[in-house]
Amino acid sequence: MVPLAPTTEVPLVEMRDISIAFGGIRAVDDASIDLYPGEVVALLGHNGAGKSTLIKILSGAYKRDSGAILVNGAEVAINSPRDAKQYGIETIYQTLALADNVDAAANLFLGRELMTSWGTLDDVAMEAEARKVMGRLNPRFQRFKDPVARLSGGQRQSVAIARAILFNARILIMDEPTAALGPQETAQVGELVKQLKSEGIGIFLISHDIHDVFDLADRVCVMKNGQVVGTAKTTDVTQDEVLGMIILGKCPPGAIPGPGAMKAAA
Ligand SMILES: Nc1ncnc2c1ncn2[C@@H]1O[C@H](COP(=O)(O)OP(=O)(O)OP(=O)(O)O)[C@@H](O)[C@H]1O
Ligand SMILES: [Mg+2]
Repeated sequence: MVPLAPTTEVPLVEMRDISIAFGGIRAVDDASIDLYPGEVVALLGHNGAGKSTLIKILSGAYKRDSGAILVNGAEVAINSPRDAKQYGIETIYQTLALADNVDAAANLFLGRELMTSWGTLDDVAMEAEARKVMGRLNPRFQRFKDPVARLSGGQRQSVAIARAILFNARILIMDEPTAALGPQETAQVGELVKQLKSEGIGIFLISHDIHDVFDLADRVCVMKNGQVVGTAKTTDVTQDEVLGMIILGKCPPGAIPGPGAMKAAA
């Protein structure tokens, strides 16, 4: 296979020729995508294009029918969310899945609590760790004593991201992270993404917001009817061209066509 990005670096993750069908529907059809350290790759496409399904295969929520997943150049078996986490793949769902009535530290360690040698919850250690990781991500965050229900959307997002990276995520999947946020909070998520990039974390970003995508992503990958229309660096294509990929399946000259690219009219 021709590498999607011209670089000598090994991709953090590569999904090759992935397919999955539900009943008769090929939700993902021979899709290939890769992601390099410190890179944001946006997945775009209409409702039902297969974006979430492709990413759920990577996060271990769905089992593919065919295709391969490589992490750091080596093929891996991802058959459950636990497998994915083991390879440093963490997912932040749109719902964030936070426990609203407890504070940030309790959320960060939900299900993976630190214990004292007495067998009780080590709240001191957990809060110290929470302050460390939140300080890295969002230094202005100070509301460590508040239940997360009281936090703003952007703050809640930073708690969800902190939970993912606390356990050494190298690959972060964000499905519509800014869909429910206002402009200011969207900008805050943008800052978080830049911070993660600077640490070498790779991000798959699913978004319907083409402006967000051009702000944050290094490359875009457009899907249509389960197939990849094409992949491009955001510097090599215009927003209009990307809309043409999404709506018409038309692959512009700056993009590498995938199996879903509209064939030229005869
Ligand atoms: N668990 C499932 N069972 C049956 N069909 C499914 C399942 N999950 C997804 N599909 C189907 O697979 C196709 C792709 O859906 P998917 O959710 O991946 O799209 P998407 O690109 O994420 O869309 P959206 O932008 O609406 O989130 C759709 O036709 C959907 O109905
Ligand atoms: Mg989706």
